[in-house]
Amino acid sequence: MSERENWSGRATFIMAAVGSAIGFGNMWRFPFVCAKNGGGAFLIPYFVALISAGIPIMILEYYLGIRHRVSAPFALGKIKPIFKIVGWLAILGAFTLNLFYNAIMGWTFIHLFKVSTITEWAADIKTAEAHFFGEILGVPASQGNPWNFVGIQWPLFLGLILSWLIIWWIVKGGLNRVGKVLLYTVPLPVIFVIIMVIRGITLPGAVEGLNYYLTPEWSKLLEAKVWLAAYGQIFFSLSICLGTLVAYSSFMPKDTEIPNSAAITSFCNCTFSFLAGFAIFSILGFFAYTLNVPITEVAKAGPGLTFVAYPAAMVQLPFGVQFFAYLFYITLFLLGIDSAFSLLETIVAALKDKFGWTRLKATTFVTIISIILGIPFVTNSGLLWLDIVDHFAINYILVIGGIFECIALAYFFGGDKLIKDININAEIQLGKLFKLCIYFLAPGILTVIVIKSIIEEVQKPYEGYPVSALLVIGLGSFLLCLIGAIVLSSTKSDKEVKIPTDGKIAQ
Ligand code: PHE
Repeated sequence: MSERENWSGRATFIMAAVGSAIGFGNMWRFPFVCAKNGGGAFLIPYFVALISAGIPIMILEYYLGIRHRVSAPFALGKIKPIFKIVGWLAILGAFTLNLFYNAIMGWTFIHLFKVSTITEWAADIKTAEAHFFGEILGVPASQGNPWNFVGIQWPLFLGLILSWLIIWWIVKGGLNRVGKVLLYTVPLPVIFVIIMVIRGITLPGAVEGLNYYLTPEWSKLLEAKVWLAAYGQIFFSLSICLGTLVAYSSFMPKDTEIPNSAAITSFCNCTFSFLAGFAIFSILGFFAYTLNVPITEVAKAGPGLTFVAYPAAMVQLPFGVQFFAYLFYITLFLLGIDSAFSLLETIVAALKDKFGWTRLKATTFVTIISIILGIPFVTNSGLLWLDIVDHFAINYILVIGGIFECIALAYFFGGDKLIKDININAEIQLGKLFKLCIYFLAPGILTVIVIKSIIEEVQKPYEGYPVSALLVIGLGSFLLCLIGAIVLSSTKSDKEVKIPTDGKIAQ
């Protein structure tokens, strides 16, 4: 068996994890979810979710990868064979997410190519809306029904292929190439966002935008769905529960420090989210000011925020419209690309472990299959498919994965053994709080969330989509992942990795 690859050091490993974590989730999803769920007050459930589940689960994933130096299904299977299913479910979740993550990358490319005419297509909010939803996505043609296929949106399809070619090239080059690319994709967006924040907060009206973003609405803290949103956001944003961090940490030596590495990764991710909110809402505040309308008029939900309201706001800047537009879409590209290739690496690592394939074979195989399966996401119904698959497959796989990872490691592997093992090399010692989180808080809260959400699902069809679409596309994609996970865990391949017999992590 060939030697497992390694990151060049701890800094590269942490940078890779940060690159994976910081993505569309930070620049587009966080600011909006925060504003919608209580503004400044949302930061409380967000922080509780981070401490009670986010960081503890990240520590568990780093431990799984570092201890066994294999991908999630095999590391979890080592605890008890049945947990292999949880690992494969995570891998298939990563596969599914990557299908539409690259479609969103495609939206970014198109906007990047069209910056030179931004003053035309984003002249005002109506024009920008018609441009994004009508011209680029072709959604009006499907009128809210995912079954209304009119056809493939060819520029989106080309964008999808381009995105896949880029991540295929990066991942097939191995960890060396990934490490080099990360030197650009991680620091540059931080610098660019700081420039955007400085530009944003010095504009008239910025304060109104920031007030909308940060003014606490305390009553929201009593709503269960605000807490749900906080846990969902933390999981998605930290890249946990989809096998990614297990794969990334499996390329580190067994004596790697864990708790502080997890704390650093989380801190970088959450600080970036917070900062991105300033970039977004200061400029939206300025936009509302130029239009003389309340901020709620321009800060609307969903993909519109980044691809409709934001470009329309940028067009109103007193100078440097194109400069800031380039800066913004290049930032999105850089943020998205290292999350997309981390997802590809997750799947490639698992396939290599299972079938003993070469990196080139695994990468090429996943790329071809994913482009084909990604086609629904680049049709005129793509946005609706994306919304449904994201809600049903990704959200549930994330939360279920989190619950079972805690159960596997706390109850089956043994929390005390785990803590002792991690503490040998730890810069921050784990203690009672961590134990409380992995035994009770995280699995308990997540279970309540799953049950509550399923009840809501049955009571009220998600977003008013046709029930047939929710069953086939939503439940269907979840079940496909589950069945795939069961099949992959119960078949044996003679090339499967052998996990070295148990030993202390430091040995
Ligand atoms: N964390 C990424 C984001 O915020 C998404 C992601 C999730 C990437 C899981 C990899 C694994 O956009």
